[in-house]
Amino acid sequence: MELSELSWSIRGTLGRKLLMKAQQYDDVVDFTLGDPDIPTPDGICEAAVRAIREHKTRYTPAGGIAPLREAVAADIAIQTELPLTAENVAITIGATEAIHLAFRMLLNPDDEVIIIGPSWAQCPNNVLLCGAKPVLADRFTEGFLPDIGYLRSLITDRTKIIVVNSPNNPTGTIYPMETLQAIAQLAHEKGICLFSDEVYSTLAFDKPYVSVGNWCDRDNVVVFGSSSKIFCMTGWRVGCVISEPHFIKRLIKMQENMVICASAPAQWAALEAVTHTVQYALPIRETFRARREVLLDALKDTPKMRFRRPEATFYLFADISETGLDSRTFCDRLLEKEHVAVTPGLSFGDAFDGYIRLAFTLNDDVLHDGAARIRRFIESL
Ligand SMILES: Cc1ncc(COP(=O)(O)O)c(C=O)c1O
Repeated sequence: MELSELSWSIRGTLGRKLLMKAQQYDDVVDFTLGDPDIPTPDGICEAAVRAIREHKTRYTPAGGIAPLREAVAADIAIQTELPLTAENVAITIGATEAIHLAFRMLLNPDDEVIIIGPSWAQCPNNVLLCGAKPVLADRFTEGFLPDIGYLRSLITDRTKIIVVNSPNNPTGTIYPMETLQAIAQLAHEKGICLFSDEVYSTLAFDKPYVSVGNWCDRDNVVVFGSSSKIFCMTGWRVGCVISEPHFIKRLIKMQENMVICASAPAQWAALEAVTHTVQYALPIRETFRARREVLLDALKDTPKMRFRRPEATFYLFADISETGLDSRTFCDRLLEKEHVAVTPGLSFGDAFDGYIRLAFTLNDDVLHDGAARIRRFIESL
């Protein structure tokens, strides 16, 4: 069987590879996956069970069930004060499918997409899947904020999209309003589309996140959301895409041909979640806020490791360059010696090879244990 060039262009993520290797040990502390260990809240699960009992188990409209589209629109309309309706929203199989479809909507071969780094690996990979070229804007200022001058210098006449992700995976940074406005202004000036990945929206600890939808040239903005992280629903696979109705209408046609629709019971579960955000999302956020403190405290005297306090998400992005090891070697050796799995910074762009990412999706005892092992490992170098 001769595989396509496209199939060869996608590499497995380094975090997953490390995790495969970790399976040979039975006492691994796994900081790799952005997948909360907290179970999906009972009320959300009940909504899915109810839907199944009521035989809401058939195909749904391709764009999603109407009450969920309406609820997402209402939720975003409250945050942004924009007059959004169900027609601005399509429900997808996680944000991943939403992002893929939206790239497909705009990209022709050889077009370029500037992704503000560091970035989760699936984003550039999905650009590659569309036959286009990802360009990582990987120069940043204090606090992992993008260097806007550098961003501007990367724009060519093939640039179609700029992708921004705030709150950010892997740094946990919330971009301030001025930064987002500068990016939006640049996109507007150059007639480039702005994609805003906002899947960590309610996991903001120190200040509220701001949606780019707030002030933008709306015709050129596409926003992505997801139930995965904020409601601990990674396996349910429900996300959404928000944009102008003409864009959403055509995107739904593509979705219909690719996957038909997102799972029906999962959509009813997501409806329960979105209509009770305070009840479900806030306790989850508070759990991660407390875990952030536990991890920061447990790691605070670790030599040769520098990190900022993440303002959001459940990730800590730590600079390990003082150890003299590149991120892959650091992660391999840490796994072999101490049975701790962390994600190499290289997964988020070449410029981040001096970093590692720790997901604090673990309970306090495990966080303490993992931090102690990391410290022991670095001290042994
Ligand atoms: C920044 C970012 N966007 C999107 C996703 C994908 O989310 P979903 O589970 O909704 O596909 C992830 C998952 O890790 C992510 O970190």
